[in-house]
Amino acid sequence: MTDRIRLDGRVAVVTGAAGVIGTATLRLLADRGARIVAVDRREADLKTAVEGLPASAEALTVAADVTQEDEVKEYVRAAVDRFGTIDAFYNNAGIEGDIKPIPEYSLESFRRVLDVNVVGVFLGMKYVLPVMLKQNKGSIINTASIAGLMGSPHLAVYSASKHAVIGLTKSAAWECTGTGVRVNCVCPGLIDSRMLSAIMTGRNGGNAPPPTEKLVERIPARRLGLASEVASIVAFLASDEASYVSGSHYTVDGGRTAA
Ligand SMILES: NC(=O)c1ccc[n+]([C@@H]2O[C@H](COP(=O)([O-])OP(=O)(O)OC[C@H]3O[C@@H](n4cnc5c(N)ncnc54)[C@H](O)[C@@H]3O)[C@@H](O)[C@H]2O)c1
Repeated sequence: MTDRIRLDGRVAVVTGAAGVIGTATLRLLADRGARIVAVDRREADLKTAVEGLPASAEALTVAADVTQEDEVKEYVRAAVDRFGTIDAFYNNAGIEGDIKPIPEYSLESFRRVLDVNVVGVFLGMKYVLPVMLKQNKGSIINTASIAGLMGSPHLAVYSASKHAVIGLTKSAAWECTGTGVRVNCVCPGLIDSRMLSAIMTGRNGGNAPPPTEKLVERIPARRLGLASEVASIVAFLASDEASYVSGSHYTVDGGRTAA
């Protein structure tokens, strides 16, 4: 199909690339013609994630911890050394942390969640933005969550971290005023994934999560989302089709936040 979003020759950096949503996204971006830099701290899983790419796809893997400034600098440098630039940055690595009410939540876990979900996103933008601003062009897509738009029981820290991602996104979009750099975020809802199972198991006191029919009761689409459905929005935001879109948060939640 000729009318599909194309990213031919674009260089896309994806963090959290070994995870469910990251892997689905790097595959879609590669499918649409992008050259991929896949970043995650889990090196073996990162290699597996790019193995499924078509032979024609160009991909570089970089093992890095997004909370470590030197390692963030290094993945950005590796991308530019290999491909000359960065056109799209999917700043996606994140953790759910503990699933507990606030009185039981340890300060150590609180700091860890903010470190990965907020500091990691901040550092990614800190080092990718100069590359994009220099060429006056680029698209950054951060991963927030619908938990960044509303409260979430037993996930207060995660929710706070995702509210912060939305604030970082909107502020960065303002800081790019007058340039060709756009900054947006996606807010996935309940995506069929390891993270969702971990959250639902945690909320259920460590027992098996409730059946899917129960989970989707408050979702107008009446089903869980797919990682590929988040990837589709990321591909759109990365492309020139979204040339007038900046500072936005895109929900991919089957209507869950429409109420
Ligand atoms: N799964 C969902 O239902 C859902 C819903 C809303 C938002 N999200 C968000 O989407 C993003 C991806 O989630 P997912 O479902 O693919 O989860 P996932 O756990 O499958 O993937 C997350 C990836 O991030 C990596 N990562 C974690 N900490 C890192 C660090 N310090 N440095 C480098 N890499 C690190 C992990 O190794 C993992 O591969 C996360 O930001 C998550 O908060 C997920």
